[in-house]
Amino acid sequence: MTKRTVVVMSGDGIGKTVMPEALRVLEAIGFDADYVEAGIGWKHWVEEGDPLPPRTIELLEEHRLGLFGAITSKTKTKAAQELAPHLKDKGLTYYSPIVRMRQHFDLDICVRPCRSFANNPLNFIRRKGEGFEEPQVDVVIFRQNTEGLYCGVEWTNPPEGVRTALETHAKMKAFGQVASEDLAISLRIFSRPACQRIAREAFEYARKHGYRSVTVCEKPNVIRETSGMMEEVARQVSADYPEIQLWSTNIDAQMMWLTKNPEDYGVILSGNMFGDIVSDGFAGLVGGLGFACSANMGKRVAVFEPTHGSAPKYEKLDPSIVNPIAMILSACMMLDHIGQGEKAARIKEAIAAVVAEGKVRTYDMLRLTGGPRVFEHGAATTQQMTDAIIANL
Ligand code: NAI
Ligand code: MG
Repeated sequence: MTKRTVVVMSGDGIGKTVMPEALRVLEAIGFDADYVEAGIGWKHWVEEGDPLPPRTIELLEEHRLGLFGAITSKTKTKAAQELAPHLKDKGLTYYSPIVRMRQHFDLDICVRPCRSFANNPLNFIRRKGEGFEEPQVDVVIFRQNTEGLYCGVEWTNPPEGVRTALETHAKMKAFGQVASEDLAISLRIFSRPACQRIAREAFEYARKHGYRSVTVCEKPNVIRETSGMMEEVARQVSADYPEIQLWSTNIDAQMMWLTKNPEDYGVILSGNMFGDIVSDGFAGLVGGLGFACSANMGKRVAVFEPTHGSAPKYEKLDPSIVNPIAMILSACMMLDHIGQGEKAARIKEAIAAVVAEGKVRTYDMLRLTGGPRVFEHGAATTQQMTDAIIANL
């Protein structure tokens, strides 16, 4: 097997804390790769006026495999204020580098597994009689990652041509009296090829990993065109997978049901925004941000990242308190992607063993309020958590 080069984008804040932990685990498991650091995030916006510098894009173009930590995004006002003096008044606009990266490389398939580890004190429990039960959650969300409500086609005060075009739709009459400067419009665009790709990936995954159902989670009864297209495409694709059931839920009802019977679901298929919502919902049942990993995959390039952000308030804490598991699980997804699933499985077993034993727990697992004093209450440091995982490999 040829040696891979991984583009390492630590980013901002705790991205810089958790990335080295994942790399330590990859080294300990014997993953033989080259690493190349690439910049992304706020520092690059401030100093270069571009949070996703061309060099980073070139490296991803070349090596096609990325590990990403987290970045900091700030408001429009702060973005303008913090820009280096020589870049001010150049008409630069801040755009999220992650969204841009997803769109640039067409990383249209986002996968977010949400699986409970036994004895994780953060696992969802359900009241039963006098006691409670802890359903085993094993859900994998497939989220269309480039279109939908996050496609970026939006206006406040839409230009005349846009308004005129929209007014060809009968439902625009309801807004007929509203001045354009008082109108904000964000378009939700789905394309059939993108729906087909994500639906196919979801069913293939379900087949490969033995899931019994794929649930389209949208809102086709109200958002008839876009959600309707996703549902229709899923039905067509499902014909090739007779052993897998196709279910359909509405996003609102799904959010309620996942707090009632989360163990009933397997693979979930959604557009961009509802996929974002439902994956956060399921992640909350299996440990939250400290455990939530994800993959962004296109036809050529794939980037793996924890779902959490840069948690700037914890950036400077030394020793660090944050949970490295989400980042380490993201590295496991990378190993799976490049055909090194056996190594990924061993890392996940080691994580499971540490969680099950319950001796080493970061502050989030103990439900402590984050801060330098969490160690007095038995919390492990970020590095101690990684050490425990490595010791179990
Ligand atoms: P966040 O995910 O950074 O933090 C929210 C809270 O979750 C933190 O206060 C912390 O209590 C907890 N948390 C996050 N990661 C954790 C970990 N590994 N272990 C234990 N606890 C953890 O989201 P927040 O505070 O809304 O945003 C902070 C910055 O991150 C913002 O600038 C935001 O734009 C950015 N962000 C970046 C994302 C990314 O890079 N993919 C995603 C979400 C936010
Ligand atoms: Mg989110």
